[in-house]
Amino acid sequence: DAQQPGQLPPMGWNSWNKFHCDINEELIRETADAMVSSGLEAAGYQYVNIDDCWAEQNRTADGKLEASHTRFPSGIKALADYVHDRGLKLGIYTSAGTLTCQKTMPGGLDHEDVDAQTFADWGVDYLKYDNCNNQNRPAIERYTKMGEAIKKTGRPILYALCEWGQNQPWLWGKDAGAQVWRTTGDISDSWSSMTGILDKQVPLVGYSGPGGWNDPDMLEVGNGKMTTTEYQAHFALWALLNAPLLAGNDLRSMSDTTKKILANKDIVALDQDWAGKQGYQLRDDGDTEVWTKPMSDGSAAVVLFNRGLAAAPMSATTTELGLGKARDYRVRDLWSGAETETTGTLRASVPSHGAAVFRVWPAKFPNAAPLSTLTVQAPD
Ligand code: GLA
Repeated sequence: DAQQPGQLPPMGWNSWNKFHCDINEELIRETADAMVSSGLEAAGYQYVNIDDCWAEQNRTADGKLEASHTRFPSGIKALADYVHDRGLKLGIYTSAGTLTCQKTMPGGLDHEDVDAQTFADWGVDYLKYDNCNNQNRPAIERYTKMGEAIKKTGRPILYALCEWGQNQPWLWGKDAGAQVWRTTGDISDSWSSMTGILDKQVPLVGYSGPGGWNDPDMLEVGNGKMTTTEYQAHFALWALLNAPLLAGNDLRSMSDTTKKILANKDIVALDQDWAGKQGYQLRDDGDTEVWTKPMSDGSAAVVLFNRGLAAAPMSATTTELGLGKARDYRVRDLWSGAETETTGTLRASVPSHGAAVFRVWPAKFPNAAPLSTLTVQAPD
């Protein structure tokens, strides 16, 4: 479709977090199949994105990029067709430098027009444009060149620039033609990496919205080095931030627990809310933090986040959530699906490293259980 991409934060998968350079066309095809069969596509996931290491080390005689003969022998066009046949979109990667970060393939610097046109000819729908080997040339110039090259192709390719927040891309990313900009360095599959990145998002709230999104980096959910409770917190907070939701695990073999987190439609809905107001940190009480996001239907999303080593009783009032002074509020626990009502204070016992997630509507909701029975449940 010809619609300008990036009106909502992109959702999909990327090969890097789990597979690094160990990628090939079977993996991409099987991932596309798994995205559909697992129900992730139905939950809104759409892009199947190939990261670094997909190309031959040298350009062709006429200066074009070429897919690795051994790992992508059918070529990227065939892969794009395969992915499109399943109702999905294909993403690709290169760097605004002479080589990509793994130095296994050429970058796009000074080859912007030919590379963007090649991607468009292949039917690519998403470009992640990295920052390695950039010859210390000015970022805005390098990224704007690719933005213009993409525009010239006439194909609606979502442009995700990835310069790790070094030059405050939230100030100029949109002008460079991008719909997504990485705010920070690379995530890894650990609690400290995830929370360290989260902390750096706090001042960036105002710079994200429809057509241009802050990107705290891809998801690590299901990669094995955090607990289920920690992955729930990671996912909920990324959704609250209107982050691109790019799964970074092996979709072909994910557990039901992982699937339940990634496919949680109530939490995905926070990320994909049309008004696109990024959630923010409302209160920082040390180990416990209250985050909230105003939703376009007048409700509020609330994340009660506990960084502490013990479970903590937490609460937030509808007044501080900006929900005014209604008589009653309807509350849904987005992990358990349980609904209840309250006259003003949300409470939950939040597990260590956990995030209770609620959506609160200022409206009377009949047949609700008393709020005191609400507890946060990990998916089974
Ligand atoms: C950089 C990016 C990562 C990934 C790697 C690939 O580090 O920030 O997300 O794309 O390069 O080499």
